[in-house]
Amino acid sequence: MASKKLMMTILWIVFVFLQSCANGKPQVPCLFVFGDSLSDDGNNNNLVTLAKCNYRPYGIDFPKGPTGRFSNGRNMIDFLAQLLGFEDYIPPFATARGKEILKGVNYASGAAGIRNETSGQNQGDRISMDRQLKNHETTMSEINRMLGNNHNTTVEYLSKCIYSVAIGSNDYLSNYFLPQYYPTSRLYTQQQYAVVLIDQLSQQLTTLYQYGARKLAVFGLSEIGSIPLERSLCGNGTKGSACVDNINNAAQLFNDRLKSLLSQLNNKLTNATFIFINATEIGATSPSLASMVADVPCCKVSNITGLCKPFGNTCSNRSQYIYWDAIHPTEAMDALFAGRAYKAQSPNDASPFDISHLAQL
Ligand SMILES: *[C@@H]1O[C@H](CO)[C@@H](O)[C@H](O)[C@H]1NC(C)=O
Ligand SMILES: *[C@@H]1O[C@H](CO)[C@@H](O)[C@H](O)[C@H]1NC(C)=O
Ligand SMILES: *[C@@H]1O[C@H](CO)[C@@H](O)[C@H](O)[C@H]1NC(C)=O
Ligand SMILES: *[C@@H]1O[C@H](CO)[C@@H](O)[C@H](O)[C@H]1NC(C)=O
Ligand SMILES: *[C@@H]1O[C@H](CO)[C@@H](O)[C@H](O)[C@H]1NC(C)=O
Ligand SMILES: *[C@@H]1O[C@H](CO)[C@@H](O)[C@H](O)[C@H]1NC(C)=O
Ligand SMILES: *[C@@H]1O[C@H](CO)[C@@H](O)[C@H](O)[C@H]1NC(C)=O
Repeated sequence: MASKKLMMTILWIVFVFLQSCANGKPQVPCLFVFGDSLSDDGNNNNLVTLAKCNYRPYGIDFPKGPTGRFSNGRNMIDFLAQLLGFEDYIPPFATARGKEILKGVNYASGAAGIRNETSGQNQGDRISMDRQLKNHETTMSEINRMLGNNHNTTVEYLSKCIYSVAIGSNDYLSNYFLPQYYPTSRLYTQQQYAVVLIDQLSQQLTTLYQYGARKLAVFGLSEIGSIPLERSLCGNGTKGSACVDNINNAAQLFNDRLKSLLSQLNNKLTNATFIFINATEIGATSPSLASMVADVPCCKVSNITGLCKPFGNTCSNRSQYIYWDAIHPTEAMDALFAGRAYKAQSPNDASPFDISHLAQL
């Protein structure tokens, strides 16, 4: 009698375990992340840079506290990983070790740009997009070793992963629009600069394709002129709004070219699918945003970096604010953003389709 009961218990445990495995299986085997502070989850913690945030009040709503995420809680990649069914967050390259890299690695670095020099003069060290690609080579050879040095198996495995690329904001805010540090605005008109950036990003995305990426989600820029830092740098009043609009227009030029680049790459690169996420659209048309605070950050910020002051005060109704510091969205905003990138609510959100479709390919 007792042994029958024990048997039933064991069977039940096995059943639940199998079921949880089935439910816990992510939609794709791995997620690799390239980008800047919107995606970074700890890669800058040991760099000599102003662009770091592993101190309170960052992480005030994150179970582990400050981790190097530029947010009060989870960032957009954390939400994306959850929506894709991953049980854990994607580890930062800086600390990712052993088998966990099979689920993907996050290479994103606060202040990083498409261009190598971006942020170097005004922020310090950062891992540019080219260096992030180099770091991915290291991961790839580790994965190849773990999969038994079988090149075909590795290629097959890497082709099923999703690759998220969200970069370019700093090439404007921490390069082109800082003429006191960088010559780019004297060398290029805004039109020309968008071409230069898109050409370089095109090479970087092609490298990623050559490394075996086949499912790529590429994020356009949001309205980067409207972040509290730029509003305050531009100054308030009529002149300020022209300055804000000028930055937003530059971002729009980049976005238009990015979208057409991705459709060209879809035609040119066999078996690859690149999708464009329209961050401007998502930022402009989410109904809940209308009631949120959009002009001031939630935390007390340093007027030099735009980041929260260490151990400074925060607003208490954090879910009511769009901006956490003077640059980065709150967790509430990131949830909304990742949600629409994953499952589009309007045909403009993602093209040709959203990340949930990309995962199913
Ligand atoms: C950027 O730096 C990397 C090394 O970190 C180098 O391989 C690459 O050629 C540089 N790119 C440009 C455009 O200078
Ligand atoms: C890998 O694939 C190629 C062609 O797809 C094939 O010729 C080769 O034998 C495969 N190698 C292994 C080790 O399976
Ligand atoms: C602009 O206005 C905002 C909110 O009204 C304020 O927080 C900020 O300090 C002002 N910036 C400047 C440079 O006056
Ligand atoms: C495209 O996919 C097919 C089918 O999986 C495969 O045989 C072929 O090698 C792939 N080509 C490239 C360039 O990836
Ligand atoms: C993104 O959406 C915005 C607002 O809905 C639209 O004005 C813009 O043209 C779109 N951007 C691209 C590159 O399609
Ligand atoms: C930044 O804040 C300090 C005081 O905290 C003030 O002295 C300085 O003028 C401010 N700088 C700008 C550019 O607003
Ligand atoms: C958030 O709280 C602040 C004070 O803590 C208040 O002034 C503001 O109106 C609140 N905002 C919203 C949208 O509830």
